[in-house]
Amino acid sequence: MTGLYIHIPFCKRKCFYCDFVSVQYDAALADKYISALIKEALSYKKIAISTVYIGGGTPSVLSCEQLKKLIENIKNIFDVSKLQEFTVELNPESAENNKLHLLYNENVSRLSFGLQTANDKLLENIGRLHNFDKFKQAYGSALKKGFTDINIDLMYGIQDQTLTDWEKTLDTVLNFNSSHISLYPLTIEKGTKFYLQKTETNPELQRAMYETACIKFKNNNLSHYEISNWARDQKYSKHNKTYWQNNEYVGLGAAAASYYKRYRFKNNININEYINSILGGKDACIEKEYINDAVYNTETIMLGLRLSEGVHIKYFNDKKHIIDKYLKEGFLHIKNDRVSLTEEAFFLSNSIISDLI
Ligand SMILES: C[S@@+](CC[C@H](N)C(=O)[O-])C[C@H]1O[C@@H](n2cnc3c(N)ncnc32)[C@H](O)[C@@H]1O
Ligand code: SF4
Repeated sequence: MTGLYIHIPFCKRKCFYCDFVSVQYDAALADKYISALIKEALSYKKIAISTVYIGGGTPSVLSCEQLKKLIENIKNIFDVSKLQEFTVELNPESAENNKLHLLYNENVSRLSFGLQTANDKLLENIGRLHNFDKFKQAYGSALKKGFTDINIDLMYGIQDQTLTDWEKTLDTVLNFNSSHISLYPLTIEKGTKFYLQKTETNPELQRAMYETACIKFKNNNLSHYEISNWARDQKYSKHNKTYWQNNEYVGLGAAAASYYKRYRFKNNININEYINSILGGKDACIEKEYINDAVYNTETIMLGLRLSEGVHIKYFNDKKHIIDKYLKEGFLHIKNDRVSLTEEAFFLSNSIISDLI
């Protein structure tokens, strides 16, 4: 079964840290973009999909009509008879009641809200358009509509954020009892406002913030199933697990990546060029690579070690001596023939994983 990702490259305004592919929302451009998405979807005919994830950018910046047109066409074009999960990302300032109503009626099963921090001053410092109250209101409306599977995205190590601020955000968010939480350390990406301002991060503080979160979440029965992701009652992101388990997915839209029939490929990141290619009857692919067995094995290790369930030992072939070293140091464990990082090693994952591939 295959996952389906749809990229919506529009936002109300660019946040100061973000380098994801998105431009300011424009209704006419978004109309054309949705027509292109539908046309691109048609090139896959009726393949069976297990999960849908509409992300961005800001999917909730689209109008109800645009969301409805997109979702209904996707359901008609693909075989969704065995669909297990349908996620849409929402920003608090554009998650209005009518959109939540529409998404619920269209059988969207999971929402992902970008909160980032519960501190209004910090929200302003990073260029967010909502305050904490707006999030609380949107989250409450989502619950009222009947959504039970909701993720909250948070960022840590943002400028002027203290460990105490972070603890307050964690406690506040834990009070919502959401089924899922994702945490991201602020990274300074080229071309962003923060990059131009030469903003710096503090890795030691970020590490302390991550460890604080690990402890608080454990005490609140959230399972740490992936380096940056926690879930309650096994409500993991099935779609994102498709990536980490190195399974197939199809990406639609500008900058969308796919891994399909052993090829990895990526679409043009320029929105107008993407639209013109697709509506002109061509594909929008700018990179394509065949994944041979050796590359597949390496990728399976790289992605799978992000998960607490780890990776089957058969993928490690000639790396057994490195595994022994990390086992002795307490950074890896092996259970039922699966190799996984210990929770202590999650924060150091990049260096350990690169040693193992
Ligand atoms: C691409 S955004 C899309 C979600 C939605 N538009 C929003 O802003 O809430 C997904 C998540 O990535 C995280 N993110 C984006 N840029 C980041 C950066 N430079 N450093 C850390 N986290 C980042 C944020 O937590 C954000 O919610
Ligand atoms: S973080 Fe979300 S809202 Fe902000 S610019 Fe990036 S995609 Fe848009």
